[in-house]
Amino acid sequence: MTHAIRFHRAGGPEVLVWEEVELGKPGPGEARIRHTAVGLNFVDIYNRSGLYPVQLPSGLGGEGAGVVEEVGPGVTDLKPGDRIAYGSAPMGAYAEARLIPADRLIKLPDGIDDKTAAAMMLKGLTVQYLIRQTYRVKAGDTILLHAAAGGIGLILGQWAKHLGATVIGTVGSDEKAKLAKAHGCAHTIVYTREDFVKDTFLKSLDCLAPLGVVALFGQSSGSVEPLNLGLLAQKGSLYVTRPTLNTYAAKRESLVAMAKELFEVVQSGAVKIEVNQSYPLKDAAKAHADLAARKTTGSTVLLV
Ligand SMILES: NC(=O)c1ccc[n+]([C@@H]2O[C@H](COP(=O)([O-])OP(=O)(O)OC[C@H]3O[C@@H](n4cnc5c(N)ncnc54)[C@H](OP(=O)(O)O)[C@@H]3O)[C@@H](O)[C@H]2O)c1
Repeated sequence: MTHAIRFHRAGGPEVLVWEEVELGKPGPGEARIRHTAVGLNFVDIYNRSGLYPVQLPSGLGGEGAGVVEEVGPGVTDLKPGDRIAYGSAPMGAYAEARLIPADRLIKLPDGIDDKTAAAMMLKGLTVQYLIRQTYRVKAGDTILLHAAAGGIGLILGQWAKHLGATVIGTVGSDEKAKLAKAHGCAHTIVYTREDFVKDTFLKSLDCLAPLGVVALFGQSSGSVEPLNLGLLAQKGSLYVTRPTLNTYAAKRESLVAMAKELFEVVQSGAVKIEVNQSYPLKDAAKAHADLAARKTTGSTVLLV
């Protein structure tokens, strides 16, 4: 028997409960892993609250690090004792141990500790696809980045600066502005005070140069209303995309290549992973409340 955070109905943080779970042996193509640290992500809130409907009861969480305990039939490239991490996998990371498709696991290099790995996989792989694939950032580009002091924000700011871009970050407070500036942002806008209505997607369109690209990768500030495509012409032949990590990391070879690039920028020191909050896994509800209340900065991990 092992323990996991699960929920039986959609709702606030209080629906998260700590339960005993029977795991069994890994099936074909699966591995059983024991977590040491689990990553917290805003998408966990969407899944818990019912914004993204999930079949209930359910586990939660898509990012974690730990060690392989056992592999199922057909798994040849992993063995018990291997240190692994993942950021693109079926939900169920909020658990002491779990079964997981082995082809979602990435072996960890020695230079990356478990807490850092749990804090960077889902977020770092997202940043990889956003600035290396959705739009390939190059020296001289200017980027407007919302929630620049958040988990994604601190990683994207540093990586984009490393690529030679000028990053303008919007943030909710002066303290967050300082942090964003220390992590790649050349300029910050405290949108609660200065003239930028962050909750309005259309305002982001107004910030673009002709032929500019909007990558709408999240909706912490609320869902976007249907868009009149004619506006894209009026505002300068703009591009809009709504990408998700699941699409970009769907194939094993893509996932491996993306993780390789991420590990390179982290190990070279170009991108520092800031774990600014940690909570015991059992207290996931408190972590959710703090993330939703904008109290966190950088990455947050749940320790097992
Ligand atoms: N599409 C994908 O593949 C993908 C993958 C990963 C994450 N995401 C998305 O990326 C975004 C960032 O994720 P994250 O986990 O790194 O979270 P995060 O940025 O650490 O936290 C969310 C931040 O959003 C800002 N915010 C603005 N309006 C808010 C509101 N009404 N409620 C709460 N926060 C609000 C807050 O910063 P300020 O106080 O500075 O405003 C808050 O700290 C999320 O929308 C997430 O869903 C997308």
